[in-house]
Amino acid sequence: MPITPKEWHKRFKLQSQWTKSTREYLFQGAGFSFSSRVLDVGCGTGAISGEISQTKFDHVVGIDLNIEFIRHALTINSGQQLNVADAHSLPFKNDIFGCTFCHFLLMWVSDPAQVIREMKRVTSPGGSVLALAEPDYGGRIDYPEQLAIINEWQIAALKDQGANPFMGRKIKALFHQAGLDEIEVGVIGAQWTADIQEKEILSEWEIIRSDLMGLSKKSEVEKTADEIQKIDQAAWALGERILFVPTFYALGMVR
Ligand SMILES: C[S@@+](CC[C@H](N)C(=O)[O-])C[C@H]1O[C@@H](n2cnc3c(N)ncnc32)[C@H](O)[C@@H]1O
Repeated sequence: MPITPKEWHKRFKLQSQWTKSTREYLFQGAGFSFSSRVLDVGCGTGAISGEISQTKFDHVVGIDLNIEFIRHALTINSGQQLNVADAHSLPFKNDIFGCTFCHFLLMWVSDPAQVIREMKRVTSPGGSVLALAEPDYGGRIDYPEQLAIINEWQIAALKDQGANPFMGRKIKALFHQAGLDEIEVGVIGAQWTADIQEKEILSEWEIIRSDLMGLSKKSEVEKTADEIQKIDQAAWALGERILFVPTFYALGMVR
């Protein structure tokens, strides 16, 4: 069954929780006021633009290629300026935003260097360009060891969908090549508390299984997926599970 925009929104909201403290730090570090004009590139269903337009910034604009996502975002935040557009060619004049950011976008685009150039073009001098979260599955850690196979599936599924599973390590170079200044790059930290909810594990497995549906080796993989899911759930229940995907961020100033 295809996943609805509403279900995507739930996923995007969950992902946005993982990066919340880094986002707070970066928005604060960038030194913007409530009246700053902000652009969310690849805003999806508005998980982040919706949140920050209520709490942090008065004027948040979003664009995304997916019309269904934009429609859904507008049902939640009808007052927001959200447009269908391609990040490779932003429909805005030069120098009009104080901050332009993206969140889990660059790994999905065909030419990330062009997207960053566009983000820089529409940002005014003194403003900043932020890539808030770009994962790198090449550095993923899974424990217990039998669970490392999940990452092999994930990398294959992302490649099948045209995404770059190793984008994280590239964003520093891309920001430099775009001519951004005072670049800061880092990796978002992780904590593992004892109280992970069963429903979060099941939701993660829903994502893994929907990704597996697209794999060419699908039937082979499905045979082992049930067994791997049991090991995963048992490891969470015993408090042994470690899952870490290095997720990079980058901040650069426009001069
Ligand atoms: C993983 S989702 C992240 C959505 C949102 N940034 C968030 O974190 O909730 C990636 C988004 O990028 C959008 N996207 C992919 N390629 C794009 C492009 N060339 N231009 C604009 N949006 C694009 C997709 O439609 C999708 O909404």
